[in-house]
Amino acid sequence: MFKRALVTYATKYGSTAGIAEAIGESVRGEGIQADVMPAKDAGVIESYDLVIVGSPVYAGKWLSDATDFLKRNSASLKDKKVAFFAAGLIMNEDTPENRLKMEESLKEAKEIVSPFATEFFAGKLEYKKLSFPVRMLVKAMKSSEGDFRDFEKIGEWGRSLLI
Ligand SMILES: Cc1cc2nc3c(=O)[nH]c(=O)nc-3n(C[C@H](O)[C@H](O)[C@H](O)COP(=O)(O)O)c2cc1C
Repeated sequence: MFKRALVTYATKYGSTAGIAEAIGESVRGEGIQADVMPAKDAGVIESYDLVIVGSPVYAGKWLSDATDFLKRNSASLKDKKVAFFAAGLIMNEDTPENRLKMEESLKEAKEIVSPFATEFFAGKLEYKKLSFPVRMLVKAMKSSEGDFRDFEKIGEWGRSLLI
C-alpha cells in the first residue's frame, strides 16, 4: 500500500490542474495522503512513493514543464511507482487511433521514466483564453470549444492506481 502520493502537472490554461486535483481527491478518498502541485514547482520528492505526472497535449506533445520534472527527478523516480496521464481534445473521441496519438505524446517522457500505468483524458478548450492568432488557428482546425473532462472517469483511474 502507498503511504504518500504526489500528483504533479503541467498546464497552459489551467484545466489540467483540475484533472490533477480530482486525481488527488480520489487518492485521498482511499486514505492516502496526496499533494497536488504544478510540475515546475515540485521540489524534493523523496517522501512520495507514488508519483502521478500529467500534461495537456499541445501540437502532439506533452508540455516541457512535465518532461523537465521527469528529467530533474529521474534518479529518485527510479525507486518509486510512477503513473502518467495526458489530456487532449482528441480524446473527445476515445478511439484506438486517438489513443495511439496520445501515446505518441508520451514518447519522450517514457524514455526518461517507465510508468506502471498510463491514461488519457479529454480536456477543456475556451476560445476566450486564447490569444487572437491561436484562436484563429484552433477555429481553423475546427477544434470544439468546451469542457470535456470526465471527472468520474478521472477519479476512477486515480483509485485504480492504488489496487
Ligand atoms: C494551440 C493548441 C494546440 C493543441 N494541440 C492539441 C493536440 O495536439 N492534441 C490534443 O488532443 N489536444 C490539443 N489541444 C487541446 C488541449 O490539449 C486541451 O485544450 C487541454 O485540455 C488544455 O489543457 P490546459 O488548460 O491545462 O492547458 C490544443 C489546444 C491548443 C490551444
